[in-house]
Amino acid sequence: MTDIKELYEKKGQGHVFAFFDELNEEEQKSLLKQAADIDLDEVAGLVSSLVKNSGGSKNETIADELAPADYIPLPDSETGVADLWEKARAEGEKALRSGRVAAFTVAGGQGTRLGYDGPKGTYGVSPVLKSSLFQIFAEKILAASRIYGKAIHWYLMTSIINNEETVKFFEENEYFGLHKERVHFFTQGLMPAVDDDGKILLADKANIALSPDGHGGALRALVRSGSIRQMEADGIDTISYFQVDNPLVRCIDPEFIGFHLLRDSELSSKTVPKAYPEEKVGVFCEQNGKAVVVEYSDLPERLASELDENGEIKFRAGSIAIHVFARDFIKKLGAGQSEDAQLPFHLANKKVAHITPDGEVHEPTEPNAYKFEMFVFDSLPFAQNPVIIETARADDFSPVKNAEGVDSPKTSREDQLRQFARWVKAAGVEIETDDTGLPPFTFEISPLFADTEERFVEKWNALTEKPELTEGLVLV
Ligand code: UD1
Repeated sequence: MTDIKELYEKKGQGHVFAFFDELNEEEQKSLLKQAADIDLDEVAGLVSSLVKNSGGSKNETIADELAPADYIPLPDSETGVADLWEKARAEGEKALRSGRVAAFTVAGGQGTRLGYDGPKGTYGVSPVLKSSLFQIFAEKILAASRIYGKAIHWYLMTSIINNEETVKFFEENEYFGLHKERVHFFTQGLMPAVDDDGKILLADKANIALSPDGHGGALRALVRSGSIRQMEADGIDTISYFQVDNPLVRCIDPEFIGFHLLRDSELSSKTVPKAYPEEKVGVFCEQNGKAVVVEYSDLPERLASELDENGEIKFRAGSIAIHVFARDFIKKLGAGQSEDAQLPFHLANKKVAHITPDGEVHEPTEPNAYKFEMFVFDSLPFAQNPVIIETARADDFSPVKNAEGVDSPKTSREDQLRQFARWVKAAGVEIETDDTGLPPFTFEISPLFADTEERFVEKWNALTEKPELTEGLVLV
């Protein structure tokens, strides 16, 4: 154990143990464990490559090599080919019937922007019942399990900060009707926060200031937690990935899965055209013959606002963080089997409360520290045969990110209502809506009643007694 202290001393991080002698035995053990879990060489490498170089003009170098990425357009767009989509759907349905597909949600983030005190997935978002994000996903997965006759496994990545509360929420809600043994939680890795000089910060005398290593940490964590091995044992080789913040997501989409399988892709992605140049979504681009996602904060403004010859946003292929991964691609990258296939870390300059060398608590008002995060989409350039398909924003993407304004509970709730209203209209029911398709009253269609327009129409038409569409109606 003292080896760890010596190692920290040698690597210029000895201050982490400055208060060690004041701690009780349990605290000492815990601090030593936290310290042992950190790869000091990795941190030192990141400090010299990122922290010491922060503020450089990396964007402009990136920009010179970028071109917009190609994607498969929707079948009902001008260039879309309906036959292709039909084939993809059949392939995806076959895969689902054979039990090859698992769902996977990254839910380890801290959700600070929403200002909600709790795991984001427990936040209530549906229009009438205020069902949580987790419940909506669970019901979509349950619906797909019933449709394809195979109970779908669901993997969820949490962090040490929200794992206990997340699992408790599922327990209390009896896993929303899913089989408990098919819902798998695992925690992601942690990285220490450092100051300008690369010194690791202490949250208090007994704890290092640690935070989740970004959703890119999912690849390592899936391997380390044994989830990949379990998938192998269960015959699962295809993983449907989505973020915790998007209630509209089609958790299990046969067409998307089908394209991924038909093209023997290691990583497939969905795109929607950006709504406006400054929209805060990553953009699919091509760089040196490889598909990449350039994060919104890294795309230079002059490229973000550039128009093509048709007057459309040139770099418009927005990334909505919905992917299908081949299991063995994750296995390869997550195990770090190849030196050249390591996900890079990104730097985030944040406010981190910590304890000073003289034992005082410092509550910063300005960003004072650096956190390191990996992004899952950085695996895209390593993937063989990457596929990008277009999807309809209205049927796949309306995230809850901010307390107010864009991507807020209000906008997401309204987008859910618009979707329900479209489905009802498609079934031939007259319903009044405004110019944006929003109905004047609030109602809800549970994924257990129908999870697509097509199934809604079928189910609605089969009802012998049709309920009146009024305020507060819930179809389950
Ligand atoms: C993200 C994408 C952006 C995309 C947009 C679509 C990043 C950096 N950017 O933006 O390209 O267009 O979504 O909505 O991701 N998470 C973890 N562990 C972590 C950090 C995050 O599990 O350590 C999870 C969160 O729980 C959440 C998701 O990752 O489900 C997104 O994280 P967030 O930081 O909110 O990304 P955005 O900035 O919204």
